[in-house]
Amino acid sequence: MSVPAESPPIVQIRGLERGFSDGATKRAVLQGVELEVQPGELVAIVGASGSGKTSLLNVVGALDRDFAGEVRIFGESLSGLSDDRRSDLRSRLLGFVFQSYHLLEHLSVLENVSVPLWIAGEASHAQVLQASMTALRSVGLEDRAQGPIGVLSGGERQRVAVARATVHGPRLLLADEPTGNLDADTGAKVFELLDQARHAPVAGGRAVLIVTHDRNIAKRADRVLELSGGKLHAGGEVS
Ligand SMILES: Nc1ncnc2c1ncn2[C@@H]1O[C@H](COP(=O)(O)OP(=O)(O)OP(=O)(O)O)[C@@H](O)[C@H]1O
Ligand SMILES: [Mg+2]
Repeated sequence: MSVPAESPPIVQIRGLERGFSDGATKRAVLQGVELEVQPGELVAIVGASGSGKTSLLNVVGALDRDFAGEVRIFGESLSGLSDDRRSDLRSRLLGFVFQSYHLLEHLSVLENVSVPLWIAGEASHAQVLQASMTALRSVGLEDRAQGPIGVLSGGERQRVAVARATVHGPRLLLADEPTGNLDADTGAKVFELLDQARHAPVAGGRAVLIVTHDRNIAKRADRVLELSGGKLHAGGEVS
């Protein structure tokens, strides 16, 4: 899809810094991250365990506000946003596949997938059910729709998380190791879903940012960036 030239980058980061203190000591994790993701792009981020990949996604996804530097998504600065505006961005425009899934154990599989649609509050009950079933079908789990989360395997949970992250057509999809627990074939199918998430037409365009150790994903990304020493470097290799 062609995106008007004046569309701002989906993600624009300048000099992002984030540290964590363990009691008396403060450890710098992100130390000057620069990143621009354009509409239509799928960017992979690789890096050693503990390098700060999840911390970076938390900032970009408006989940963490304790950072220094400039972070814009869809042209809007994340500094100084009200809580309402942050929630609004998260529920309408962002999709998350968390490293640890964050599924709600007391809800059924189908209900978990429906959550972003209920939060967005724009669809009827019938539309929510239909869209959620379609998303579940796309990850091959429609026959588990009414069942509990608790009995699912790690890879099945991961696929539910992918269905939930994409069901509302987010403009920015953030996925943290989305194929980490999947066999090669299932991983390839999940990648197709994530890949599609950047192509569906919408004003201003869409993009996907994936943290991964999966060579097959990195191979198919537009760019692979490596997080090391608190900064992003071009041309990262999958370890
Ligand atoms: N809330 C927190 N409080 C204190 N330290 C934190 C917090 N979140 C992250 N860290 C620290 O920041 C560093 C980066 O963590 P992060 O989870 O971003 O790494 P990662 O690159 O995603 O690693 P992995 O590949 O193992 O998932 C780690 O040393 C971690 O202990
Ligand atoms: Mg992580």
